[in-house]
Amino acid sequence: MAQIDFGGTTEEVITSQEFTLEKARDVLKNETIAILGYGVQGPGQALNMRDNGFRVIVGQREGGRSWERAREDGFVPGETLFPIDEAARKGTLIQFLLSDAGQVEMWPVVKAGLNQGDALYFSHGFGIVYTDQTSIIPPDNIDVILVAPKGSGRSVRMNFLDGSGINSSFAVHQDFTGRARDRALSAGIAIGSGYLFPTTFEKEVFSDLTGERGVLIGCLAGVMEAQYATLRKNGHSPSEAFNETVEELTQSLIRLVAENGMDWMMANCSTTAQRGALDWAPKFRDAVLPVFDDLYESVISGAETQRTLEKNSQPDYREKLQEELDAIKNSEMWKTGAAVRALRPENRQ
Ligand SMILES: NC(=O)c1ccc[n+]([C@@H]2O[C@H](COP(=O)([O-])OP(=O)(O)OC[C@H]3O[C@@H](n4cnc5c(N)ncnc54)[C@H](OP(=O)(O)O)[C@@H]3O)[C@@H](O)[C@H]2O)c1
Repeated sequence: MAQIDFGGTTEEVITSQEFTLEKARDVLKNETIAILGYGVQGPGQALNMRDNGFRVIVGQREGGRSWERAREDGFVPGETLFPIDEAARKGTLIQFLLSDAGQVEMWPVVKAGLNQGDALYFSHGFGIVYTDQTSIIPPDNIDVILVAPKGSGRSVRMNFLDGSGINSSFAVHQDFTGRARDRALSAGIAIGSGYLFPTTFEKEVFSDLTGERGVLIGCLAGVMEAQYATLRKNGHSPSEAFNETVEELTQSLIRLVAENGMDWMMANCSTTAQRGALDWAPKFRDAVLPVFDDLYESVISGAETQRTLEKNSQPDYREKLQEELDAIKNSEMWKTGAAVRALRPENRQ
């Protein structure tokens, strides 16, 4: 465990240097890891763990796209691929990676498969924190742990394959065996985390719901739309508006932020850009601060999870979602995006 100074606050992190893969293998040597759900996180975590030499089985409902995908990825029905109830019974470390709404629906089935001393693992605090909405209340005789990768399941896999990693938070909600922390850290290392930082189920879900509704996705999509619309309404062409709003960000500037921070990115812009950005950043900050306050309140009150469960539990959820995504895809802005991406040298025929 390392103590790291994060801008003046010392926090503990666990890297794969201190908690090695060998140690993780030792801690989990007698465990059967059951990955329940083969959607986005399921494949990333399952394949990384399998490649790292852990005993992994998948639990997935039969007949759908995900079942087929698990087969294509080498999980064999009856050997390493099972219906959810069977996998939950066979596993000792059960990674509950159904969609959050799916977890609520399948909880009675999964609960019935839990044995004393098992570890129930989540990648989100949702199910455990909002129990009034989810009714996910684990029995006392198991460990309840969390490893939440800070990225899409796709990146969990892609980063593993390219030799990097993804940061994850970890937490222990219930320690029945006395091994809960070691099990959580081992699983975190096994799925390919670069480093792990401690959290609680509550802190994880509050920050995660805020982040994805905010800067990571919702706010990003909203401000991009607003800037594009402003440029278009003032007579700029679609390609100019898109390049100034999205393409320059994703292809150039955000990479500099990733490399060395905001000051570094600004240092590598023109002095004209720097001046304007430094002047306007506080205005944007002050304008959106009240929206972030509303958002955080909506998260902690449970309104966000309630809406998520209501919407995502409907049988036509996927079709309805697709309609909303298609509306984005078919908007002028994102059609322009498709044309701009096709023009990137690496994408040209
Ligand atoms: N997406 C991410 O990158 C990400 C990042 C960090 C944490 N997490 C957390 O990881 C967990 C898994 O998320 P995810 O995004 O990977 O989920 P997802 O892609 O939405 O997972 C869908 C999986 O759940 C199954 N499923 C959904 N509803 C079901 C039901 N009613 N009965 C049985 N199976 C059902 C699906 O099977 P079918 O294909 O048959 O429908 C599929 O295997 C969640 O707790 C999430 O918050 C996700």
